[in-house]
Amino acid sequence: MLSRTLIVATLLALAGCATTPLSTGTNAVASAHPLATQAGLQALQTGGNAFDAAIATAAVLAVVEPYSAGMGGGGFWLLQKRNRETVMIDARETAPGQSHPDMYLNEAGEVRSDQPSLNGPLAAGIPGQPAAFAHINRLYAERPLRANLAAAIRLARQGFRIDERYRDLASWRRKVLRQHPDSARVFLHKGKVPETGTLLRQPALADTLEQLAEDGAEGFYSGPVARQLVEDVQAAGGIWTKADLAAYQIIERDPVTIRYRDAVIQTASLPSSGGMALAQMFGMMAERPITELYPEPDAVDRIHYRTELMRRAYRDRARHMGDPAYTDVPRERLRSSDYLARQAGSIEPLTASDSRTLFDAGTGGRHTTHLSVLDSDGRRVSATLSINWPFGSGFLSGQTGILLNNEMNDFAIKPGVPNAYGLVGGKANQVEAGKRPLSSMSPTLIDTPQRSAIIGTPGGSRIISMVFLGLLDVMDGHPAGAIVSRPRYHHQYQPDQIQHEPEAFTPDQRFRLQALGHRLENVGREYGNMQLILTDHTSGQTQAVADPRGIGQAIAQPVD
Ligand code: GLY
Repeated sequence: MLSRTLIVATLLALAGCATTPLSTGTNAVASAHPLATQAGLQALQTGGNAFDAAIATAAVLAVVEPYSAGMGGGGFWLLQKRNRETVMIDARETAPGQSHPDMYLNEAGEVRSDQPSLNGPLAAGIPGQPAAFAHINRLYAERPLRANLAAAIRLARQGFRIDERYRDLASWRRKVLRQHPDSARVFLHKGKVPETGTLLRQPALADTLEQLAEDGAEGFYSGPVARQLVEDVQAAGGIWTKADLAAYQIIERDPVTIRYRDAVIQTASLPSSGGMALAQMFGMMAERPITELYPEPDAVDRIHYRTELMRRAYRDRARHMGDPAYTDVPRERLRSSDYLARQAGSIEPLTASDSRTLFDAGTGGRHTTHLSVLDSDGRRVSATLSINWPFGSGFLSGQTGILLNNEMNDFAIKPGVPNAYGLVGGKANQVEAGKRPLSSMSPTLIDTPQRSAIIGTPGGSRIISMVFLGLLDVMDGHPAGAIVSRPRYHHQYQPDQIQHEPEAFTPDQRFRLQALGHRLENVGREYGNMQLILTDHTSGQTQAVADPRGIGQAIAQPVD
């Protein structure tokens, strides 16, 4: 008998992709923390759809992963409905109204050494996460918002047990957490990182989540919570105003759609650079397939070629990309086949390019989190959410329990000066009041006649290259476990080097890549925390896998 997904895949191929529901008969959730995955599954088992489950999962992550994402941050959500329409929810933070391009520079015009774009309340954009919960719940979910926030409220009030990951990241940010008395009170114990197993309670955050459950977005962006937030932020030297909070709006956008070989990929559009960069990399591959360069490509040829694609896409990210409401991004030109053919044509088979000499378009894991959800009727969510660095700005508004993000560092603080991820940028991504900082977060869906997948990862600037390599593995038929665990490498144009995990290359590969002229930079640790749900249309099986680099949990449960 033909499996349900095989029928779907056949229809999908015939329709040239697809309005038919991806009904796998399986509920699946993959997230970076077991408690969050369990909250998502529970939502699916009690009348919720994938959108309810995504809210429940993300709300618990906001409590138990205070270092990654939360109510003081933002993110991008791809929601796919049963009819296969996909909408992107842009819940990116906005720069406060008093922001300006020089706000992080000293009188000499140099970047301030105390790094206010990273530490303390000046680093924080106006959060989008609470608005995303309210918006998605109102328009797409089945259960009341209160039901979807219930697990998070309980865990904030009753507490959760601190794990090793928390300890690692709190140790890394201990200095800034100690500088802010409310952050130290909640996240440290007598100035030290609490021991594994310690119960961490966040009653003020529970109260704020209650307000959101009660009054929707207004419960956060106006009224007592907003007043208290502004008071706490201004008392600590920040510039938020009540008007900034009241003005915050979710934006629904079309995702970027990429067709490559027989795959259809949907991913995040600007102000995430992920979709444009992925579209460019796949576009260059279409213009100049690797087989044309290397009739029998071996592993080093592939690494070299993929690295050169990354270099070129990240260069355009640095030069041209920013919030489209403020910057005229030459999207058509950057995706046009003549431009991409010229870019791909400049890749030399036997030599690493020099980032300084690339030609221009000629116009004008340890932080962040990802969740993937599938419901048995075929609705899908891919969401990447963030407060930027571990524990964001390190500043907690004590009365509201909101830990502020430091996404302002994702702006180009000064043209050409690298941000915390080593990314450079220019005028397109300079700080401006109300603007959304350019992001790399790339929640993604992919469909081929053989497979469908929901994929994404945290990892700062390396998100895009991780998703790129993951998508290629999905298309090449690799097993789900191998896709999330494979050693990673990355090129982002500047610095001009291949950054890689310690185990990414064999000595022979290292030697041969260096012989091509590549500089290799072992980053000394693993990175990323990919959450993947993969459906094989031939077998009808759906698998959910969490990256072994993290402590996440992924569960796929067939529904009777
Ligand atoms: N905060 C990391 C990013 O949005 O790319």
